[in-house]
Amino acid sequence: MTATDPKTAPEQDPVFIFDTTLRDGEQSPGASMTLEEKLAIAEILDTMGVDIIEAGFPIASNGDFEAVSEIAKQSKNSIIAGLARAIHADIDRCGEAVKHAGKGRIHTFVSTSPIHLQFQMNKTEDQVLDIITDTVARARNLIDDVEWSAMDATRTPIDYLCRCVEAAIKCGATTINLPDTVGYSTPDEYRKMFEDIRNRVPNADQAIFSVHCHDDLGLAVANSLAGVAGGARQIECTINGLGERAGNAALEAIVMAIRTRSDVLPYGCNVDPKFLTRASKLVAGASGFAVQYNKAIVGKNAFAHESGIHQDGMLKNAETYEIMRPEDVGVKATSLVMGKHSGRHAFKDKLKDLGFELGDNALQDAFRRFKDLADRKKHVYDEDIEALVEDEISIAGE
Ligand code: KIV
Ligand code: ZN
Repeated sequence: MTATDPKTAPEQDPVFIFDTTLRDGEQSPGASMTLEEKLAIAEILDTMGVDIIEAGFPIASNGDFEAVSEIAKQSKNSIIAGLARAIHADIDRCGEAVKHAGKGRIHTFVSTSPIHLQFQMNKTEDQVLDIITDTVARARNLIDDVEWSAMDATRTPIDYLCRCVEAAIKCGATTINLPDTVGYSTPDEYRKMFEDIRNRVPNADQAIFSVHCHDDLGLAVANSLAGVAGGARQIECTINGLGERAGNAALEAIVMAIRTRSDVLPYGCNVDPKFLTRASKLVAGASGFAVQYNKAIVGKNAFAHESGIHQDGMLKNAETYEIMRPEDVGVKATSLVMGKHSGRHAFKDKLKDLGFELGDNALQDAFRRFKDLADRKKHVYDEDIEALVEDEISIAGE
């Protein structure tokens, strides 16, 4: 096993990364962003190689319409998608917003599960099938790139889901998204759903299948990768996993899983991981949602080590405790955090960094005093260690 080399990711069998930070991410209560913030986020997503950016929900407000239109105008590489319910006015408004893009997409959706049909829509299965036929065809009249989503797909009976997917493809959908809207599925189930649908729907080979997973049970990234194992080739995700309730699958984890484990996840992925940290900070700042310290890839502690055993290993060979190189994801360096679990090796190394070289006895004494301090203080800063060593030097000089 070796650390990631972003340049060695396989180019064959591409999996498309569809970022929905600006749509599903912004739907988290309290995460709304300004136009300037959205443009800055879209710019970095476009630069880092995200294949599709879902820029907003144009019918939701004039602000959302403007954001999708402006992002469509500024983007150089990515396909720009807007979301639309299965309603003519939504689809037309979305078409208006994405028409400015070099490559635009209308993403329309309708619920398919019994519980949504009964309580949310008050419609029969046949009525929803008619809606799919009508709205996908309308979107396809406006634009060549149409994505259709079966909301709550994972709680939809497979026979009915097959009929819906077949109808959507027949009416011109080029991408079929089967979301785990409520984060209910498990990896085996989700993979099997894609296998079954792709085996049973006669025109399935005319569309790209997409995963869209929510993290209510903490399975969003695992489910997304399982869906890809089942034949999906688009992954919908968000920076920092921002999204409704417990959030969506985190883009940074998906990209780094594919890059780091290309031995078992042999897919091509266009995203350049060295932008991940910057994108994460930008989204955290704009949304006001701080990233948890232990978040994979982008958390403050993702490349930090405090335990003596780990620090000792890291000083000898970084691959002892790191499976990715921090610089590959835009982090300057691993940090060996000094605390009560740190060992003598890391302490000596830290002193060297700070410009101190102590003899054996002074080092022993300083290390003991450092441990006492670390027992009392949650964070031991460089300044604390400097003060402690300067003290040691003056005691020795007395
Ligand atoms: O979670 C979901 O089902 C969605 C759809 C609108 C795609 O976000
Ligand atoms: Zn969603």
